[in-house]
Amino acid sequence: MTFVYPEVLEAGDLVLRRPRAADAPDVARALDDPEAVRFLPNVPMPMTAEFAEDWASPESNAQLAAAGGVRFVATDRRTGDLLGAVSLQRAQADRAQAETGYWVAPWARGKGVATAAVRALAAGAFEAGLARIELCTEWENVGSQKVALAAGFRREGVRRSAAPARDGGRHDLVTFVRLASDSGDPVPPGLPPLPGGQLTDGVVTLRPQLTQDADDLMALFSLPEVAETNFGDTELTLANLTAKAARVGSLWLAGDRADMTILDAATGEFAGDIGFYYFMRGLQEGMIGYSLRREFRGRGFATRAADLVARWAFEQAGVARVIAGTDPRNVASQKVLERAGFEREALMRHRLPGPDGTRLDDIQWVRLP
Ligand SMILES: CC(C)(COP(=O)(O)OP(=O)(O)OC[C@H]1O[C@@H](n2cnc3c(N)ncnc32)[C@H](O)[C@@H]1OP(=O)(O)O)[C@@H](O)C(=O)NCCC(=O)NCCS
Repeated sequence: MTFVYPEVLEAGDLVLRRPRAADAPDVARALDDPEAVRFLPNVPMPMTAEFAEDWASPESNAQLAAAGGVRFVATDRRTGDLLGAVSLQRAQADRAQAETGYWVAPWARGKGVATAAVRALAAGAFEAGLARIELCTEWENVGSQKVALAAGFRREGVRRSAAPARDGGRHDLVTFVRLASDSGDPVPPGLPPLPGGQLTDGVVTLRPQLTQDADDLMALFSLPEVAETNFGDTELTLANLTAKAARVGSLWLAGDRADMTILDAATGEFAGDIGFYYFMRGLQEGMIGYSLRREFRGRGFATRAADLVARWAFEQAGVARVIAGTDPRNVASQKVLERAGFEREALMRHRLPGPDGTRLDDIQWVRLP
């Protein structure tokens, strides 16, 4: 099966047309950018005129077309200025599917160009007979993942180690898909962002966890009393914590969990960690878990943080029940939950894995809106 794509795609203020040799200088200027280098593995660093000339040349575009793909530049309908590009590549004709890739020039970002261009491309591709378009992003490319959702693609999963990295290693691809039969309506994020990027009551500030927190998290999770409340299955290393922090934005958008860092609002110092885990999304029930550095205990920080997260979950995320679990011996954590408006609900026997194959009881707490 061969697919015949339109020469031109219309998208509001944008016109998408096939590249021309004369586009090369603008392409070189647009891709000479750290974000492009970071997330587009084929873009050379430093940028070269040869790369841009080849990208825009009839020969390389004919080669792409012969493999079932296509490339468009997105231009400003009024001025004709080049704003970005969108393509279909890695076409599998027998499966009527292909992968989309895109970039927007630094001077045109944050204006909906990528979303409009991907939408227009998808419409043209489905009209040409494609049944399925994949959109693959790196964990940390949250901007691109937002574009995917806004363009009606749904997060399908993570293809482990699916692409070569610039440093010779490999990396995962977080994959989104739009089917010809999908409505194309924007897909809402699984959990909403924090309003203004943070939650604060003037004493504690919570913001999404960042890779820069890895050293502080390592010190925190290495404390024996914190380590024993951690039931993750990955080894505690700086590399693993950095990799986990790099996934926070993506998993937030997916609606799986929202990992936050607790800061002292007065000084901005790292005080601890709190997470909202939405494993029971279907029941609108999420769980919180937290831990503080020793220096910040006994000052009400955990209570304030738990209260802020619970309110955000109820008010912004439509959650119906926020639960938390504590070891029956962990009196400090039980006081935190009581003060943060949680009620003791159940003693769950042998709920948690303990040392040497034993099981630990867990007291479950709940807060309702
Ligand atoms: C990713 C990229 C294509 C986005 O282009 P854009 O035209 O700025 O995207 P849009 O304006 O359509 O943005 C759509 C949504 O994503 C958000 N977004 C875009 N870039 C973002 C970023 N870097 N961080 C967080 N959110 C971002 C926008 O705010 C918007 O969300 P909103 O509607 O809630 O405000 C552009 O930054 C780029 O070219 N990056 C380098 C190349 C690249 O990563 N390509 C994709 C490879 S998979």
